[in-house]
Amino acid sequence: MAVPVPAPRIARFERLAFGLFLHFGLYSQLGKGEWIKYRAAMTPEEYEPLKDTFTAADFDTREIARLAKAAGMKYITLTTRHHDGFSLYDTCGLNDYDAPHSAAKRDLVAEFVEGCRSEGIVPFFYHTTLDWRWNTRACDEATFNEYLDYLHESVRILCQNYGPIGGFWFDGNWSRPQADWKEDLLYGIIRRYQPEAMIINNTGLSARGALGHPEIDSTTFEQALPGPVNREGWPKYVAGEMCQTLNRHWGIALDDLHYKSPAQVIEDLTRCRRVGANFLLNIGPTATGAIPEYEAALIRLVGRWIARHGDVIYNGKPTSYICTGRDFILAAIDKLYLFVYDLSIRGDANVTVAAGGSGPRVINGLKQPIKEIRWLDNGEPLTFTQNTDAGFAAINLTGYPYGTDWVVRVAEISI
Ligand code: GLC
Repeated sequence: MAVPVPAPRIARFERLAFGLFLHFGLYSQLGKGEWIKYRAAMTPEEYEPLKDTFTAADFDTREIARLAKAAGMKYITLTTRHHDGFSLYDTCGLNDYDAPHSAAKRDLVAEFVEGCRSEGIVPFFYHTTLDWRWNTRACDEATFNEYLDYLHESVRILCQNYGPIGGFWFDGNWSRPQADWKEDLLYGIIRRYQPEAMIINNTGLSARGALGHPEIDSTTFEQALPGPVNREGWPKYVAGEMCQTLNRHWGIALDDLHYKSPAQVIEDLTRCRRVGANFLLNIGPTATGAIPEYEAALIRLVGRWIARHGDVIYNGKPTSYICTGRDFILAAIDKLYLFVYDLSIRGDANVTVAAGGSGPRVINGLKQPIKEIRWLDNGEPLTFTQNTDAGFAAINLTGYPYGTDWVVRVAEISI
């Protein structure tokens, strides 16, 4: 059975490869994660006055876009409205629970798209469908339908007031799984006003990778690496995207020290690309909208990996060659790229902490003759033997030169 051809917007999305997810809102001021209102059962009287102290004074969207660009990220997905119901955009009178009516007195979504565009980054809009102010999880049918009208009007405003955007990222239908969310209407608005926008709707933690409504353009993998996807016989080509937190909360959580390392992020990014999925890495800005120090430093380090390894992360296509351990191959026009994990550092055992190994690693399934193999980071040639009839190659991998460790090392194979 044939694999469907991706629509141009979906093919473009796949080439964006790496994005920044931003969870910023009133909750950022409490520093306990984006679910704090719900978890602490805060009443509207307790929670909503947070808008009077929400200055977003350090929410410098140009600076954020620059940082994302330095990390090789090509898009940013911002929480334009999260479950607390507060909008970072001007709701044009739908209510005054929005950024222009907060202490910030600005339309933060307008600033966001401007900041992104000035750095060549594609803006995406996260928008909640679960809204605690409407109690959309449990409210009666009439209220729910009234809410859907409000949601559709909100999305129409986002479609019409900010120029072309990369896509919408909805989140919350999982909270009321049996309901008729009137997705036809919602997606119809987007197709009408933003025909090139991607439509994504998070299926939640329990249904990762599930295909949803036929208009959905990408499946979501919340907090978990996507596996290989077989698209044969699918009615349409649907992309995939993993979103992941750096610690264990999406909105800033000051006492959550459970951070991932740059090495883990590099591994996860490459492992997403192994199956052609995008990686949306989350950061929760501070109370005033700044990017916290550790997060900024981490994404700069990841950016150095990307700068060293060039276009393959964006343009390389998944293959089915079987390699040693976690190693895998992405294909470009006349080249293959072998991604190598767990490689040791060359040197004396007394001076080098040598986790992993070097030496021969294999590729199964490759019948085209190999012309040459080089490490992408320093151009060093690698020796190999190959049996093209058997579709077998063994490459003699050298370890990292002392003083380097790129976490995942890439060998360029010319065929
Ligand atoms: C979950 C959470 C939400 C977060 C989202 C991101 O659905 O409810 O807080 O924004 O995941 O994927």
